[in-house]
Amino acid sequence: MERLDKFLCDSGAGTRSQVKGILKAGRVQVDGKPEKDGSRKIQPGLSRVCLDGELLGGKRRAVVMMNKPGGFVTATEDRTEKTVMELLPPEFKNLDLKPVGRLDKATEGLLLFTNDGDLLHRLISPKKEVPKLYYARHEGTATEQDAAAFAAGLTLADGTKCRSAVLEPMGAGESLITVCEGKYHQVRRMMASRGMTVTYLERRKEGCLTLGDLPRGETRELTDGEMEALEQGK
Ligand code: URA
Repeated sequence: MERLDKFLCDSGAGTRSQVKGILKAGRVQVDGKPEKDGSRKIQPGLSRVCLDGELLGGKRRAVVMMNKPGGFVTATEDRTEKTVMELLPPEFKNLDLKPVGRLDKATEGLLLFTNDGDLLHRLISPKKEVPKLYYARHEGTATEQDAAAFAAGLTLADGTKCRSAVLEPMGAGESLITVCEGKYHQVRRMMASRGMTVTYLERRKEGCLTLGDLPRGETRELTDGEMEALEQGK
């Protein structure tokens, strides 16, 4: 059983205060009868809840992609910092989305969110090894020796061992890096272990998903094709 007002919020009918107004205005019917009491309990999946005559489905499963700008922490709440949740557009706000993995405050680029707990765990599982491609600007110039050290598996300053990764030098101060794990500050620490301080970092790809032309700061739902590929672990 669930409160009617929560069900309406989760279905995307509006924010909590908008839902109050919607109920007061008599726009909601439960099982064919008008209902103005938001505290009334309904059975999601069994009760027929309509808004302006349209049947609502309750919280739907959603996976969305954000092009994260710098300056936002990847967290659902933070007492002092701005969080990525603040960037979700209103239509995604009541879906109970959680970030998949983490990008540092300064890191930009591809960040997924989902409300599907099973999918979330599968995607962040260390066993999964989803390759993630980063573009980095950094001090110094990466060499073939650096690339070979990445391929062999680096050991970080604190002794942490990394799996084999791909470093593609792009000339002075720029590289592409592909890693299949998600250790804390991983790319920055890997580059630092080879004497290159990262000054800018952007995630461009995660598995088969790419940012495409999604503008910085914006969010979109995955397409059916992207969802299928994600389900198949691509
Ligand atoms: N590696 C990092 O160092 N930072 C990120 O945000 C992502 C990967």
